[in-house]
Amino acid sequence: MSLVDEKPNINILMVTMSLQGHINPMLNFAKRLISKGVHVTIATTEDGRSSMLKNKDANSSEIKLEFFSDGLSIDFDRSDTKTLLNTIQEKGRKNLSNLITNLTKNQTFSCAIVNPFVPWAIDVIAEHEIPCALLWIQASACYSIYYRYFKNIDSFPKFDDPNEKVELPGLPLLEVRDLPSFILPSYPLHFKELLADLYKALDKVKWVLGASFYEIEEEIVKSMDSLTPIYPIGPLVPPFLLGEKEISDVNVDLWNAEDSCLEWLDNKPDSSVIYISFGSLVVLSKKQMNNIAITLKNSNKNFLWVVKPANNGGYEKEDAAYELPEEFLKETEGRGLVVKWCAQQKVLMHPAVACFISHCGWNSTLETLVNGVPVIGWPSWTDQPTNAKLIENVFKNGVKVKYGEDGVASVEEIERCIKDVMEGPNAAEIKKRAMEIKESARKALEEGGNSSKNLNQFISEINGLTQ
Ligand code: UDX
Repeated sequence: MSLVDEKPNINILMVTMSLQGHINPMLNFAKRLISKGVHVTIATTEDGRSSMLKNKDANSSEIKLEFFSDGLSIDFDRSDTKTLLNTIQEKGRKNLSNLITNLTKNQTFSCAIVNPFVPWAIDVIAEHEIPCALLWIQASACYSIYYRYFKNIDSFPKFDDPNEKVELPGLPLLEVRDLPSFILPSYPLHFKELLADLYKALDKVKWVLGASFYEIEEEIVKSMDSLTPIYPIGPLVPPFLLGEKEISDVNVDLWNAEDSCLEWLDNKPDSSVIYISFGSLVVLSKKQMNNIAITLKNSNKNFLWVVKPANNGGYEKEDAAYELPEEFLKETEGRGLVVKWCAQQKVLMHPAVACFISHCGWNSTLETLVNGVPVIGWPSWTDQPTNAKLIENVFKNGVKVKYGEDGVASVEEIERCIKDVMEGPNAAEIKKRAMEIKESARKALEEGGNSSKNLNQFISEINGLTQ
């Protein structure tokens, strides 16, 4: 593996939609590339302009920000994903192409990096004759599962029975319910079509990089070596989570975080608080929220719970719960804090946090792994069921909640999970494993670590193209 030049003359364009879970890994990657002397421009959709410009790291002289319209008005409700995806593939595509035409009047891009959810951008980039890399922003396991499904490499069952088993290389035996939901018939077809487009366009992609790290997905990464390999360069999280001194907000927050919760945590004993959050999109049903509330009330444990308000850009449901009953808040006053949004990464670093009830979005999963925080996996859709399976059976840094036939986890089940990660020998084993992974995450990115080597290789290959 060759070393990166002292000053590589590399100019990279990144393309992503303005979704919290999509922008942040791209931004973290941009920062890492910049630290290696690479110039980065991020092109993202107009609807994210104000939050991007508010963020001091995103809006810095180091990263050039460019915006293109997805073809919809700013106030359009983008939780209508079908309209969004249809429009962006046609109008957004043209707007991105025009933007690249303008940008390349004065500069040359050595490479463009896209995330998986803008497959049409791969064609635009090819039309502009720019070499393209894909940054796979989820677990390598999902890259492999989708690959095998869309390229017809392995046989998958008919998906009508959630208990049906699927055997895939490098992975534990999966039930249909553990697969990423976008390939299941019960999910809207446009998500599956989006990914099908991505795998069709993969031939035009020169490098597939992963936000994960080899140490936790070794078998899965190896299983892709003879197909279209994935090179993990993560964990893609802000540097401060990996022990670097500067605490900067590399991430873009689409909502204002309530920082008071950090002071609140300062006054709680170490490893005493259950942190609960379901990311930027998932909203619980009233029944489900109620069962969590009953469990917390009975448990006498400290908790910090993020409950997003209505109309926050998440996927609204008829029976969705956006607030907790006053009575519950009164009864748990002092040991419980409910906020609308928090600085999650700083929360997960806090010694008072004992465990995380998480929807298992990939960013949240990486953030727990680098902090050694045990997880109660509470998956909802997309890659989350697979991530929860990895957490329980591969990483072994947590447990996965079991839903009843109504799709809701009972009070007894939630109690079982909390006990499993907080008390007794099982909890000790989970914590030990979580701390081992925390250590390996740092090693992956140290000079000579697997992710660091992959990143250097990527940069030196682009550098070779630009000589
Ligand atoms: C989406 C998908 O749902 C997820 O499955 C996929 O892996 C990525 O895209 P999201 O649901 O938002 O993402 O989850 P996640 O990937 O975990 O990202 C959420 C981000 O928001 C994390 O970086 C987390 O730190 C941050 N966050 C969450 C906050 O800063 N504050 C909060 O209160 C909650």
